[in-house]
Amino acid sequence: MKNSLYKKSLLSLKDINKNEIKKILLLSKKLKYLKKINKQKSFLNGKKIVSIFELNSTRTRCAFEISAFDQKINITNLDVKNTHMGEKESIEDTIKIFNCMYDAIQYRGPSHKIIKEIKKYSTIPVWNALTDKYHPIQILSDLLTISEYSKYKENFSKINLAYIGDCKNNIANTILEASNILDIKINMISNKKFLPSKKEINYIINSKKNKHTKIFCTEDKEKGLKNIDFIYTDTWLSMNQNFRELDKKIKLLKKYQVNKNLLEKTKNQDIKILHCMPAIHDEKTELSKKIFKKFNIKNGLEITDDVFNSKNSLIFEQVKNKIYVIQAIMILSLKKSVIF
Ligand code: CP
Ligand code: NVA
Repeated sequence: MKNSLYKKSLLSLKDINKNEIKKILLLSKKLKYLKKINKQKSFLNGKKIVSIFELNSTRTRCAFEISAFDQKINITNLDVKNTHMGEKESIEDTIKIFNCMYDAIQYRGPSHKIIKEIKKYSTIPVWNALTDKYHPIQILSDLLTISEYSKYKENFSKINLAYIGDCKNNIANTILEASNILDIKINMISNKKFLPSKKEINYIINSKKNKHTKIFCTEDKEKGLKNIDFIYTDTWLSMNQNFRELDKKIKLLKKYQVNKNLLEKTKNQDIKILHCMPAIHDEKTELSKKIFKKFNIKNGLEITDDVFNSKNSLIFEQVKNKIYVIQAIMILSLKKSVIF
């Protein structure tokens, strides 16, 4: 069977179609199962990838390293500060060097423009591990989690998802892309300042039509949470965002915090909670201590600690799934034909 993902890059979900997403999820599930029964398979013996993190990462970076290990890939982890890239050598020259040495490039950085430039000069697949605009690996992992916990399985057009909080960040953008490709019903819930405009939605999903029957933006929590199966939220302070703007943001987003009260509005005992993490849910980090003190916050910012740790939370299931999705992406973009 022809593998249409072979040699493909993944900068955003727009780079792949519905069948390709389904194929990634199917292979991820298979890999997860094989690992569970201790019959792991390596498809990429001897391949080499270079992994560049210009921004901090825990989950994605660890998942890349574990995936590389499981697939017997050699991985070079580069901290840009320790290379010549951007300082003494252009992105163009750096990528041309990588083309001579590696089979693929993984990149996380502060600007989507940079990864686009990397792709421009790359003759090998480029995988986006987060930019200011998109986080496709995260949302593919989350789709896997959703399909595992929904009675509709991979029948995504039946799923009702609400994304609440900062609806203008990389996670929200990628959820919009997923909704468009897989026909998922998505309610974006926030203050209007943090909701995408029709124009922004058209740009994100690459559509000229002004009609997205399945994307609904609202400031009204009751409306937005009706008949919802999954609630997704993300930090109100993304890596590219300014701490100084948090004050205004908290005032506008306070009522959109994911807490017990908000869950009750769904009238769904079985409501599932998603968060890509890092989350500001307790006072155990330097950043959260600073935020709690400065803004007189007692119990979490975008999500409360009790909900974060509740039985409804799938947050640590999301973490596990990244390993398999990354491996599936690696295999499908580096192997001409894959039989699984
Ligand atoms: N969710 C996510 O991408 O986590 P990291 O920043 O830890 O990689
Ligand atoms: N929106 C968050 C996602 C972290 C995985 C950020 O960009 O920091």
